[in-house]
Amino acid sequence: MPNQINRLIGPFSQIIPFSGLPIKGPLKDEDLQLIKDGGVLVQDGKIVSVGAFEALAKEYHGAEVEEITQPAVLLPGLIDCHTHTCFAGTRSQDYALKLQGKTYIEIAREGGGIRRTVANTRLATEEELTLSLSDRINRHLAEGVTTIEVKSGYGLSVEQELKMLTAIQQGANQTKASIISTCLAAHTLPKEFEGRSKEYLELMVIELLPAVKRNGFSNRVDIFIEETAFTLAEAEYYLDAARAMGFALTVHADQFTPGGAALAARMGALSADHLEASGENDIRALACSETVAVVLPGASLGLGIPFAPARKLLDAGCCLAIASDWNPGSAPMGDLLLQAALLSIFEKLNFAETMAGLTFRAAKALGLHDRGTLSVGMRADMIAFPVNDFREILYHQGKLKPFRVWP
Ligand code: NIG
Ligand code: FE
Repeated sequence: MPNQINRLIGPFSQIIPFSGLPIKGPLKDEDLQLIKDGGVLVQDGKIVSVGAFEALAKEYHGAEVEEITQPAVLLPGLIDCHTHTCFAGTRSQDYALKLQGKTYIEIAREGGGIRRTVANTRLATEEELTLSLSDRINRHLAEGVTTIEVKSGYGLSVEQELKMLTAIQQGANQTKASIISTCLAAHTLPKEFEGRSKEYLELMVIELLPAVKRNGFSNRVDIFIEETAFTLAEAEYYLDAARAMGFALTVHADQFTPGGAALAARMGALSADHLEASGENDIRALACSETVAVVLPGASLGLGIPFAPARKLLDAGCCLAIASDWNPGSAPMGDLLLQAALLSIFEKLNFAETMAGLTFRAAKALGLHDRGTLSVGMRADMIAFPVNDFREILYHQGKLKPFRVWP
């Protein structure tokens, strides 16, 4: 029934709700529902109705109208399901070395890499971390990212990880974007535990994870499986312990070495992220599971290496999401739409597949069921681009930004 506190927004040249599409496998642009001259009725931050603007205006004649007076294509707000936006300092030194031909792994072995950011982050106060995190989150929000996952992982001790998670909680309180935090204490081994991986992980299981739970800092745990981080066996121990404590799991898998994605799928992780080096086994395991394949084009751009095989993952039947991996080392750019647009032209992902990876499929990677499509009952997280035709959006390769964001 008509209600005074309803708000009718529109008319939009096109609304693409992204509802009713399969969660896994390839999509076609022709299968997208497209509402011309559409409107959205919103109440208390939730979508009440989506349809033709004129019809909604008649049906809900008492609604407050937010009139859109320019060409506009409305989409669900973007979801960035993998970032490391809480950090201090810069890794421009590492980047200069990369420009000279050094690899990420070589730089990490020589004392740069994640440990360089750990040193800077440990020196920063919680307030300083919150402040720089807020800047990054708000830049992301202005560019249409309404849900942002943020990982810890540059503290690497009980106390320093809790400092990061507190800063993330503070940052979440200071933005209109929706923040999902993840504990990444198993990002790499801190220097003081050199040669004692098992001991370090045990300490995190016994002391840190219970504190994370107790304080309500996060219900997600991540681990980096790689030569310079943790082995498959160590990851299995850690993920098993975290799962037993009720944490949802996500894994940094197959960035340079295969095998991690298959483990993530076997452990029932929500997502396996990176996948640049995934083997056939990993791809098959993901396709046969509920684990979302998250690709991170920003990390390929930051390292100057090929993109993860996004086309192949989709064709194999995976649920494919695309995230920025925004971090000071491998992915300093932090422009999700631009990165997804570049991935789409190199990997031949159509608009539907690309945007699905930034909306409802990314929501699945975070275990969220209340966002990612513009349908009744969902959060009214929405973005509008200043064009008449959705095909303009990827065509501008990320330079066309939304003119209006409703978080
Ligand atoms: O996802 N690969 C591991 N972690 C991050 C990089 C973090 C860093 O280099 O600071 C990533 O690329
Ligand atoms: Fe990452």
